Amino acid sequence: MTLIRDYYAEHNSSRDLADAARRAMDAGEYDLAREEVARLAVELEDHWQGEEGGLFAVMVERYPDDFADYIRPLVEEHRALAAFLATLDVTDASHRQAFADEVLELHEHMLREEDSLFPASVVTFDGQDWTRAIDGWQQAHPDRELIAD
Ligand SMILES: [Fe+2]
Ligand SMILES: [Fe+2]
Repeated sequence: MTLIRDYYAEHNSSRDLADAARRAMDAGEYDLAREEVARLAVELEDHWQGEEGGLFAVMVERYPDDFADYIRPLVEEHRALAAFLATLDVTDASHRQAFADEVLELHEHMLREEDSLFPASVVTFDGQDWTRAIDGWQQAHPDRELIAD
């Protein structure tokens, strides 16, 4: 499913940006680390908007008994990480450790989506559901197109 491929690609991009930020922090290159964190925050905000306004919205509205309890904590984790990144001071050692912990949690968050939620949507959604989910993703990425076949 093409939309799922885009979500995967956004996860990979987020992992790469988080790794780059960590490497810059480890090297004491704090200006670079700040730039990588800022890029990560933008990438994640777009990704989260695409999930919450796309796949998640359809899952919760159309199949609430199956998915609402699973999706609620995922959305809360989006908000918590956004708040953390907004206050992150890369020159503070305790913040850098907290960032490393947050990145591990982000990896786990993405695995929950990749191993459970995305496959569940593939076996549950009908054509109309995909159209709505893709519309939500498109609104979050007005200047992008889905990955082509
Ligand atoms: Fe997510
Ligand atoms: Fe995600």
